[in-house]
Amino acid sequence: MKIILTKDYDELSRTAFKEFDKIVKSEEKPRVGFATGSSPLGLYKEIVNNYSTNKGSYENVDVFNLDEYIGLPENDKNKYSAFLKNNIFNKADFSEENIDLILHNNENIEQECKRYHDILINNPLNLQILGLGANCHIGFNEPGTSFDSVTHIVDLKEETRQSNARFFDSIEEVPTQAITVGIREIMSAENIILVASGQDKADAVHKMLNDEINNTCPASILRVHKSVTVILDEAAASLL
Ligand code: F6R
Repeated sequence: MKIILTKDYDELSRTAFKEFDKIVKSEEKPRVGFATGSSPLGLYKEIVNNYSTNKGSYENVDVFNLDEYIGLPENDKNKYSAFLKNNIFNKADFSEENIDLILHNNENIEQECKRYHDILINNPLNLQILGLGANCHIGFNEPGTSFDSVTHIVDLKEETRQSNARFFDSIEEVPTQAITVGIREIMSAENIILVASGQDKADAVHKMLNDEINNTCPASILRVHKSVTVILDEAAASLL
């Protein structure tokens, strides 16, 4: 595991972009899984900036994502697919035909879990981008999730709903369930970049890197992956 300490969120995002760029450029047709949430937004801005100012192209990237809420209307801005399209895919030259997000046109949720599992296991990603939950989750794999889990439906923990309520008008609107890619599929990615920023992640970062590897801190399993880069800002690293 490579750990990179940065001064602040801007430096974290630029550093994450350099790591992303290296991996994506090393593949003819890179397969990348994108996380949602605040943490990778700076990285996504760097990607868009590279497209608009340096003519960096992403039309060869095969795009996947990590999780999606269940039960939001198709046009809801909080759908993770909408978040990713609005913040990255529609702002650079990602090609529509290369984008295969969870629940894309599939109403049958069990079947969708199986479809995504098959995609990720039969043809593993070159890169999975991750954030870190304050309770140590990765994707929506909450504490207690088996390290053997594959794409599945989760009941979101109350603390996760509370923490995501900032994007909604009220806590009641935050879905209670989601689909998440499982820990086994995350671990099957060839490379992983995890970004964590801010004081509220400091405890989870400490647990991920120092506690015994077990599923009370799902992110702790990343320590046995062969190619993980963890990029932290000063606040997230403050308990190390
Ligand atoms: C998002 C995801 C979550 C987030 C985590 C951190 O696709 O899978 O695991 O990465 O909840 O969220 P932020 O970055 O908003 O603090």
